Amino acid sequence: MSGTWESTFGDVRPPDGAEVIDVPTASRSYQVLCGRGLIDRVGPLARPFLPGEKVLIVSDANVWNLYGDRVADSLRSTGLEICIFVFPAGEAQKNLRTFGTCLEVMADAGLTRDDGVVALGGGVTGDLGAFAAATYMRGTRVIQVPTSLLAMVDSSVGGKTAVDLAGGKNLAGAFFQPSLVVVDVDVLASLTPSLLIDSFGEVIKHGVLSGPDLFYAIANDPVTASLGPDGCEGLDFDRMVSLVAANIRVKRDVVVADERESGLRQTLNLGHTIGHAIEAASGYGFGHGSCVAAGLAILCRGATALGLTPAPVTRAIQTCIVDYGLPTATDVPVEAILERARSDKKRHGDTVNAVIVRYLGSVDVVPMPFGEFSELVRLGMAL
Ligand SMILES: NC(=O)c1ccc[n+]([C@@H]2O[C@H](COP(=O)([O-])OP(=O)(O)OC[C@H]3O[C@@H](n4cnc5c(N)ncnc54)[C@H](O)[C@@H]3O)[C@@H](O)[C@H]2O)c1
Ligand SMILES: [Zn+2]
Repeated sequence: MSGTWESTFGDVRPPDGAEVIDVPTASRSYQVLCGRGLIDRVGPLARPFLPGEKVLIVSDANVWNLYGDRVADSLRSTGLEICIFVFPAGEAQKNLRTFGTCLEVMADAGLTRDDGVVALGGGVTGDLGAFAAATYMRGTRVIQVPTSLLAMVDSSVGGKTAVDLAGGKNLAGAFFQPSLVVVDVDVLASLTPSLLIDSFGEVIKHGVLSGPDLFYAIANDPVTASLGPDGCEGLDFDRMVSLVAANIRVKRDVVVADERESGLRQTLNLGHTIGHAIEAASGYGFGHGSCVAAGLAILCRGATALGLTPAPVTRAIQTCIVDYGLPTATDVPVEAILERARSDKKRHGDTVNAVIVRYLGSVDVVPMPFGEFSELVRLGMAL
């Protein structure tokens, strides 16, 4: 099903205060609903996209224990028969074995091509559940219900699905757009503050890509400043609705223009070549968003030293990263980072596609000989 809110839902109005974001990609048009209290309305919202009798909820054990019953009850209220696949939480589970078990559960439950998957959880659940939906019977459908901030602003939108192989992260996967994405920012309350703060690495990246309006909406008065040490109940959830929706629009604009990452979508890799290298060289000891933040800061400092990024732009980005309590540097040795960057699967021949910030809201993908990229990283780490 595709089209605008009206053509999809007719007279049913968007839930109170929810933002509706249209994502018209070439392979499928769908909508993201971003608001508060939507977790108890997943059933009625998802039902128009689930013409069959059954639905499989895929979730990790943490998220299932927190929200599983509410989502299952809501889906059941629409007459759907519920099947469940719950796996232990963590990136280590995003593998072929868990993926295979998920497919077997779908087959055992007798799901048909008219049925579908609701992926309820963080990016691991979303990537795995959507990949299962993409491959079961050569493709059913998936409704994404992201529950981590990273999944809300990044992984649930855009249609990249994957599992990890022994040889590397996300090596097996497919492009498969969801039929609907339901984002309820209220569920961020149960995240640990450190996980929420980590995801601001990606949020700040989106601000840089988008321009001064979103960048300063994020940078001025950091939203995480209100958090206590224990939980995220103190978040300004109304502000989060507009921040998350604005982030989704940034990602939407890029994936709609370049669904399969042949050009513009590479801009989403801003900070990631260095960030991934820090992540891998540290043995995944730091969160992804923290590594992206450090990668972004190093990249901008190096690019400023080479005359590619204006110094005030680099200063604004660094200040924002610091204000969110994220790192702008790393203890990982420069040689280890360059070694990892050299083997990055996104490298093209002997060049690296470096995403360079010209000013807030303007970046260029610059093919750089590896020697020049190394110089940039060395300069960025030395400053
Ligand atoms: N498909 C894409 O475009 C894309 C983009 C970026 C990242 N990713 C993938 O996303 C994954 C990382 O996502 P992630 O950081 O969400 O990891 P995750 O799914 O492992 O979630 C992190 C932790 O938070 C818990 N959690 C999630 N929501 C919660 C909530 N509301 N309350 C309490 N606990 C909650 C989970 O149980 C887990 O322990 C990686 O595998 C990465 O490759 C995919
Ligand atoms: Zn990322």
